[in-house]
Amino acid sequence: MADHNPIVSTVGLTKIFRDFWGRPKAKAVNDVDFNVYPGEVVGLLGPNGCGKSTTVKMLLGLLYPTAGTLSVMGRSPRAVETKREIGYLPEESYLYKYLTAIETLDFFGALFGLSAQERKLRSEQLLDMVGLGHARRRRVGEFSKGMTRRIGLAQAMINDPALLILDEPTSGLDPLGCKEVKDLIMHLKKRGKTVIITSHMLSDVEDVCDRVMIMYGGKIRATGTLNELLTITEASRIITPVLSPEVTNRVIQILRDNFGEEEDFKIDHPRKSLENFFLEVIETARHDSVETAGVLGGGHIADYLSEELPQSALLQELAQNGQKPEPTIVEPAKTVEEGIEEENIKLEQLTEEVKVQEPKDDSVDKILAGAEKLKAANEKLEDLLSGR
Ligand SMILES: Nc1ncnc2c1ncn2[C@@H]1O[C@H](COP(=O)(O)OP(=O)(O)O)[C@@H](O)[C@H]1O
Ligand SMILES: [Mg+2]
Repeated sequence: MADHNPIVSTVGLTKIFRDFWGRPKAKAVNDVDFNVYPGEVVGLLGPNGCGKSTTVKMLLGLLYPTAGTLSVMGRSPRAVETKREIGYLPEESYLYKYLTAIETLDFFGALFGLSAQERKLRSEQLLDMVGLGHARRRRVGEFSKGMTRRIGLAQAMINDPALLILDEPTSGLDPLGCKEVKDLIMHLKKRGKTVIITSHMLSDVEDVCDRVMIMYGGKIRATGTLNELLTITEASRIITPVLSPEVTNRVIQILRDNFGEEEDFKIDHPRKSLENFFLEVIETARHDSVETAGVLGGGHIADYLSEELPQSALLQELAQNGQKPEPTIVEPAKTVEEGIEEENIKLEQLTEEVKVQEPKDDSVDKILAGAEKLKAANEKLEDLLSGR
């Protein structure tokens, strides 16, 4: 992997949030360096508030770094060509409550300039894939947290992106939903997609990630492949069919002869994870046709996602070995005034931004920036209505 140019590269990436007077309020991301290579599934892991979402928002060009350098596909994260190749699942989904599931996907498809026919095809396939086929005509405002997560995932994939950035993709999902999301990520990996997942759910990351970065207090504290981080090289384990007491004794005797009388050996039975056990129980129940009232199982990968598509020029460029990497794009540090403006979005702007416009080249910007603003607008509107 390392002989490819990284798809994402950061050096000294830092984000300091300031208060109204420009005084530093929170050092959300503090001097972070990392690379993500094409085809990797990388997990950004850490407790709440450690800076995962802030890092992700800088990769998407939604927040300006205070310091450091950052490049995504060899360019600034704000470049239009870059954004076309990115799918983003925000931590909280920003959806227009009054649109149905199918209208929501159609809306995002239109922002990417897809034809009406392509939008219809992809939307239907994606809804089936995320287990929302039965809810296609329901308004997303009525959706449960898990259903909202599913429609958010479908939305992130409508443009069949090369790089998927999923902020807490399994939050709010039951174990079946988590398993489906993980299967989906594995499928996307097989298709050569690069995926960055943030999570505080360790098992999610463990099952799908090639590599993890553990963040705490805005800094990356550990990074490596799961093997590198988790393998205990000072011990060995042999898994065999069940041993009879006689064989066990003979094995222990051999071990004592080699290690001495004092050494303690541990012999036990391997245990399956609770998650696997749970999934087996549900699978059996499904075979016995036990009905459940919740979300219907999805899991069938959308056909359009399964087709082999030619790599975009941008990715081919990245994949060329030995090619001199483009200089990393330096994001200028922001002035206090700009920072304040960024953190205090005006309501008039919001209402303007959420109107659907003719698809244009900067459409992806609109999704990313517009979605943030749509959410803020919804919140302000709720505040106004509830007289807060
Ligand atoms: N817009 C903001 N203004 C001020 N502080 C923020 C803002 N967004 C995040 N923070 C602070 O930055 C830190 C990191 O937040 P975040 O990146 O959301 O963490 P995580 O996603 O890991 O839970 C937290 O202390 C949080 O309170
Ligand atoms: Mg977060």
